[in-house]
Amino acid sequence: MSRNSAMPADLVAYAAAHSTRPDEVQKALIAATETKAGGFAGMQIGTDQGVFMTLLTAVLQVGFAVEVGTFTGYSALCIARGLAPGGRLLCCDVSEEWTSIGREHWEMAGVSDRIDLRIAPAIETLRSLPPEPKIDLAFIDADKTGYMSYYEEILSRLSPQGVILVDNTLWHGMILEDSGAEDSDTVALRAFNDHVAADERVEAVLLTIGDGVTLIRRR
Ligand SMILES: C[S@@+](CC[C@H](N)C(=O)[O-])C[C@H]1O[C@@H](n2cnc3c(N)ncnc32)[C@H](O)[C@@H]1O
Repeated sequence: MSRNSAMPADLVAYAAAHSTRPDEVQKALIAATETKAGGFAGMQIGTDQGVFMTLLTAVLQVGFAVEVGTFTGYSALCIARGLAPGGRLLCCDVSEEWTSIGREHWEMAGVSDRIDLRIAPAIETLRSLPPEPKIDLAFIDADKTGYMSYYEEILSRLSPQGVILVDNTLWHGMILEDSGAEDSDTVALRAFNDHVAADERVEAVLLTIGDGVTLIRRR
């Protein structure tokens, strides 16, 4: 299945080909994920989304970033590369197996000293965060039924200029009611998107990059 539900496959390929291409470490991580994670490899973000995240992190001069859902570490690598000097990335995941592939490639890319990985349910990690430092950029990409709780925990800790990125908000088209999908992930994502769109505390745009990425900031 294409990662992008909003555009025809040839346009998706064109967009990726006309964005900065992955370097050798990123290519190696994509290959390792395909080999070791098999059918789960599609959970990895696309290369154009990765460039977008590096650019955004750099432009915002992010000092503290949080990722919820790290898998084999591609999105984390992209965020880590954009961090301001001395910046930190906190990664939340429950899988030692998948994140160990990430650790190996973060080392190869020379960014492992900027990344703290916590293996625990993300909600526990988020709730245990001290009030400072505030979060400058967050990326939510874990279990879909947890999105609402992750969003609320992160929003309450967001710095004034901070942003939240939320992945899979188009959910391969199943987000539309008339798709007929009624599984718990789809229902949770619909409720999450409706919640954000109606949330007076924030300004949000659902971008049609990848499988839908919602960009959110406090008003
Ligand atoms: C879609 S993948 C993340 C993909 C990753 N951002 C990337 O681009 O490669 C989702 C990840 O969320 C993790 N996850 C699922 N439930 C979780 C939970 N309750 N707490 C923390 N991580 C969780 C899974 O182990 C998986 O690695």
